Amino acid sequence: MTYQLRDLKDTVVAITGATSGIGKAAAEQLVELGAKVALGARDGDRLNGVVEQLGADNAVAVPMDVRSVEDNQKLIDAAVSKFGKLDSIVPNAGIGMYGSILDHTDDELRRMMHTNYDGTVWTVRAGVPAMLKTTGAGDIVIVSSVAGFRGGGDEAVYAGTKFAQVGLAGSLDRELREKGIRVTAVCPAGVGTEFAVGAGRVDNDPRFAEWLVADDVAYAIVTVLQQPRSVRTTVWQMWSMGQQS
Ligand SMILES: NC(=O)c1ccc[n+]([C@@H]2O[C@H](COP(=O)([O-])OP(=O)(O)OC[C@H]3O[C@@H](n4cnc5c(N)ncnc54)[C@H](OP(=O)(O)O)[C@@H]3O)[C@@H](O)[C@H]2O)c1
Repeated sequence: MTYQLRDLKDTVVAITGATSGIGKAAAEQLVELGAKVALGARDGDRLNGVVEQLGADNAVAVPMDVRSVEDNQKLIDAAVSKFGKLDSIVPNAGIGMYGSILDHTDDELRRMMHTNYDGTVWTVRAGVPAMLKTTGAGDIVIVSSVAGFRGGGDEAVYAGTKFAQVGLAGSLDRELREKGIRVTAVCPAGVGTEFAVGAGRVDNDPRFAEWLVADDVAYAIVTVLQQPRSVRTTVWQMWSMGQQS
């Protein structure tokens, strides 16, 4: 039997956190397969650089903060207005801080909770009506973490936001499956991106050599989207061979 993966040519995908790391790698892989991408992040200059790299016919940049309801709507509206429809959303933007809950400022904790969890909710709220209206189906691929299953001693609040995303994804799957929307939580272990610098690790830390790379996770996102519409992936946990589960 030949397993027929979905052709992603002309699929329209909105991605948050697309200036670097996993979000940028996902945008690159999707465009290589002929998809169109609407890209959100705060740093407009950097975002424009990514669009320039991918080609203005394939990508649109929307400077936005995922903590803002209105900004999420702007991202979704830009996808539909530039490409005529919306097939999928990838709520990926996230920040992490390592250390004791007692050592962070109130503002740092608030920023992490609002970016990682609220931001995901707002992207979903804006994206679902647009997917249903323009394609009558859709995909939501939330980038959570293995920290969303087992926590971590030096990242309690971060892990809490990642548990929340996994819970949201599972609940949305129950709510949206009947409408033709598939919901997945992609949950990587450590990935050697800008995000991972901290807790004694520095840029180009040799320990990153053992870790996943952004393209590994981007490939998981793409593979989830490529599954035939008769199949859905609810959770994809992933580690490199060098990482202890
Ligand atoms: N790296 C890891 O070890 C690891 C492991 C498991 C899961 N993850 C998850 O993977 C996701 C992506 O992380 P990454 O590793 O690719 O990190 P990254 O390279 O630091 O990318 C994070 C992206 O999020 C954007 N962002 C941050 N705050 C934002 C906000 N308020 N509004 C809009 N965009 C915002 C950043 O762009 P701007 O600064 O321009 O806004 C950037 O594009 C995160 O959700 C993270 O929790 C990462």
